[in-house]
Amino acid sequence: MNKIITLSLVAATLLFTACGEKTDEKTAKAVESTKTAAHDIAEASKEAANSAMEAAKKATAEAKIAAEKAMEATKATAEKAMKETKAAADKAMEEAKAAVGKTGDAVNAATAAAAASLANDAGKEAYAAKCKNCHGLDGKTKALGKSALIGGVDKAALVEMLNAYKAGTRNVADSGMLMKGQVEHMDDATIKALAEYISSLK
Ligand code: HEC
Repeated sequence: MNKIITLSLVAATLLFTACGEKTDEKTAKAVESTKTAAHDIAEASKEAANSAMEAAKKATAEAKIAAEKAMEATKATAEKAMKETKAAADKAMEEAKAAVGKTGDAVNAATAAAAASLANDAGKEAYAAKCKNCHGLDGKTKALGKSALIGGVDKAALVEMLNAYKAGTRNVADSGMLMKGQVEHMDDATIKALAEYISSLK
């Protein structure tokens, strides 16, 4: 830039000087000098423009590299975040599955407990209605002074004995027919419920 200013000043001075002279030769000289100066100015401008262009090119190239680097970094960060998100989601899914499994177990246990409790209630009712008078409230009375004590006896054994009375194939104290009359119209569920309840008597 300084070069341009200096050259301009030289040119102006030369022009000014030329205007002051009277002879053609001097005028021609001044015109020549002005031309040279103008040429130099043009050259200097071109040079300056070129170097500005070079600088701009370089800056553009650097910006491009920086942008590419930034893109790479963004991509890497995004990939990492994606992986982490996926891992977290997988873990959450596993935990949710486990929780659902646990809930299912709890529901099953509750259902089984409720069913057992209902069956026990049914057994209790049937016992009170049909058996208690001979076998006693807690199953610890010898029915008609003949039977064995039934309270607390194993459930499966009770089911087997009751089914045998129902089929008419059991007769321990000569009262098999009497017991058959007690259970012959009972369905399997009621017999099971009764056995469950009687086995629970202590
Ligand atoms: C009228 C009295 C009477 C009633 C009511 C009665 N039982 Fe009996 N029970 C007996 C007698 C008597 C025996 C012995 C039967 C035999 O000879 O095998 C007996 C036997 C049993 C036995 C077998 C015990 C053993 O270990 O040999 C069971 C179990 C039993 N009764 C359960 C019941 C149930 C359950 C009911 C109610 C549905 C019931 N009884 C109602 C009189 C009764």
